[in-house]
Amino acid sequence: MKTSTPQSVFTLAKLLLSACIVMASSTLLASEIATLRQGTPLESTNTTPALLNNASNEDKRKTRAYPMQPPTIPHKIEAYQIDTNANQCMTCHARLRVEDSQAPMISVTHYMDRDGNFLADVSPRRYFCTQCHVTQVSNKPLIENTFRDMHHLPANKNKTN
Ligand code: HEC
Ligand code: HEC
Repeated sequence: MKTSTPQSVFTLAKLLLSACIVMASSTLLASEIATLRQGTPLESTNTTPALLNNASNEDKRKTRAYPMQPPTIPHKIEAYQIDTNANQCMTCHARLRVEDSQAPMISVTHYMDRDGNFLADVSPRRYFCTQCHVTQVSNKPLIENTFRDMHHLPANKNKTN
């Protein structure tokens, strides 16, 4: 075994010092910065809140916050399968289903491949609907946000659409 040289003692001291700094800064973070961990120290685990089955189910299409926004889903979806075998969303939203379902058809962009060619069925790029579309719950925002509709930008002030 090597005997300790002044060099290795110095390295050990540096390691101890950085460990202290890391511990001190994590205590600071936990107590002073608002995070989704809600003050739980980094070395502890939060109890996971229960998943509430309270997605809004009002069947009323919502305002989009900007023209290109994927519309939010105004109905419950937890029973709908989306995997390699089936896409239940398409049982109502596909072109040939909307007459029966009275659901809005997925838009033309969903039938386009990345080169802009139109396909007969939903493009693989748009297959997993919940990548972009989400249900809503009426909850308080987790953190404050200052989002304003683009309608309020000065250039849009006098426009109605
Ligand atoms: C049983 C039929 C049915 C199924 C299945 C269904 N939807 Fe719908 N969806 C509708 C209808 C009808 C509407 C129109 C609003 C309403 O009545 O809820 C709608 C509205 C929407 C809208 C809002 C469109 C807009 O312009 O605002 C989105 C987004 C949507 N659905 C996504 C989905 C996704 C994603 C799935 C699968 C997880 C799905 N839907 C499954 C019938 C269905
Ligand atoms: C990669 C993101 C993405 C995926 C995946 C996706 N969408 Fe969309 N969707 C959008 C965007 C963005 C819009 C609004 C712009 C547009 O029409 O392309 C939209 C629009 C819609 C609309 C409104 C159409 C209209 O004309 O009012 C419906 C309904 C819809 N999507 C359903 C679905 C369903 C069902 C799926 C799954 C089969 C799906 N979307 C997958 C992004 C996506």
